[in-house]
Parts: sequence; C-alpha cells; structure tokens
Amino acid sequence: MHRPGAGVNTAGVNNTVVKDASENNDRAAFIAANTEIQSTKLVPEIRLRLASENMAIWRMNDEQREAAGVPLPFWAFAWAGGQALARYILDHPSTVAGRKLLDMGAGSGLEAIAAAMAGAEVVAADTDPFAIAATEMNAALNGVGLSVTSDDLIGQTGNWDVVMVGDLFFEQPLAEHLEAWLRGLHRRGGEILIGDPQRTYLPRAGLEKLTTYAVPTTTALEDSDLRNASVWRMVDG
Ligand SMILES: C[S@@+](CC[C@H](N)C(=O)[O-])C[C@H]1O[C@@H](n2cnc3c(N)ncnc32)[C@H](O)[C@@H]1O
Repeated sequence: MHRPGAGVNTAGVNNTVVKDASENNDRAAFIAANTEIQSTKLVPEIRLRLASENMAIWRMNDEQREAAGVPLPFWAFAWAGGQALARYILDHPSTVAGRKLLDMGAGSGLEAIAAAMAGAEVVAADTDPFAIAATEMNAALNGVGLSVTSDDLIGQTGNWDVVMVGDLFFEQPLAEHLEAWLRGLHRRGGEILIGDPQRTYLPRAGLEKLTTYAVPTTTALEDSDLRNASVWRMVDG
C-alpha cells in the first residue's frame, strides 16, 4: 500500500526495539510500546495513541517492519482527512447523532471516536488488524463505545445511515473500488461523508464541499506542515 503523503521517513536507521508483533495478543502491547498518548491541535478533545518522531516505529525500514509482522503503521498517525472529519462531526453532532454509522478505514479510530462522542452507533472498519487494536485502545482511552471489524466491506451492503471515509483516496485501485461502492450506497439513501486533503484520487464530481480546515501536520509524513483538508458530502452526479 502506498503512503498518502510524502511518506514516513524511515531512512538511514537500522536499530529498532520492535519485536515480532504478528500475534493477536501482541498487537496492543506493540501499540502501547510504540506510541504516546497525544491530541492533535485541530481535535484536542480526543486523545490518541500516536507515534512520535523519536520512536522506533518511525525509524523502521520495510525489511524491519516485515520481520516484525507490522504493516505500514497508518493507525499510528491522525491523517489530515480524518482530522477534518472528526472536527466537523464534533462541531455538527446532529449530522450523525442517533444514526448507524460506518467509519471505513478507521486507522487510529479518530473520526469513529468523534462520531461515537456525537451520539452515533459506530462500526469502525479497517483491514489492518493493528488499526483495529489501535481503534479499540483509543476508544477506551476516550471512554466511548464502538464496534470494530477487520472485514473488507467494500462491495457489501449494510444498514448504515452514514458512511464516513477519512483519507482513503491516495491509491488508484482502492479509490476506484471505494468510489463505486460509495456511489451505490448513496443511491440506496446512505449519507456519505469524506474527509480529504486533496489526495490524487479524490473524485472530481458528485461531491459537495461542506467546509475546509487548515490541518497542522508534519513534513515527515506530508509534503507540507499544513494541509487544507475538506469535508465533502456525496451528492448525485
Ligand atoms: C491513510 S489511513 C487513514 C486512517 C484514518 N481514517 C485517518 O484519517 O486518520 C487509511 C486506512 O485505510 C485502511 N484501509 C485500506 N484499505 C481498506 C479497506 N479495503 N477496508 C478497510 N480499511 C482499509 C488502512 O489500513 C488505513 O488504516
């Protein structure tokens, strides 16, 4: 899987404290050992276990990650699109309150937690089992309840009133499958909300912009320390 922005800087460092974490019950320990509890500037209400730049997870190269059984740690960062969605949901809770909501590609769980805080009945989906573990840990950290699944739900129909997607339009095949599936859900009456900082494969039509935030980020992850990320609602088109 490609990285959404410029990429996690893993160059030039060979030492790591990470051990094999491929077993289910090792994942929570791995996450706890490789993150710190932090909040983002845009969403200070929510605490997350996120990687800091001085931690081993930042410095692992692909070989080291493979040896440790750890996929690219998307769950260790709060991506700009997810931050924008979370901010929007917390500021407009009636958008999701009392509704069945799917957060697709939950990562750290940031926007899923925001939706649960706003009163939605949340399922957080991510195909990376580390993201599932991180989402569960972060939900507990914030005292909210939600369900999780590692099933790949693309192509499936569910009884969700709202489907949220935070920062998933960074890779062409994934973006194409995702858009086709979301269009189908929208045609059946689902509300689709997307948080995105103008990734390459964000659909160009059939989206209505709700708002834009300037999201502080890091040049180790993105090509800028500030990204404009918008929240979009899918419309006919
Ligand atoms: C860039 S991260 C975004 C995480 C979070 N939404 C945010 O904005 O911080 C993309 C996430 O999508 C997940 N993902 C990729 N393909 C997926 C799929 N088919 N179904 C569910 N999750 C998927 C990845 O594992 C990763 O956690």
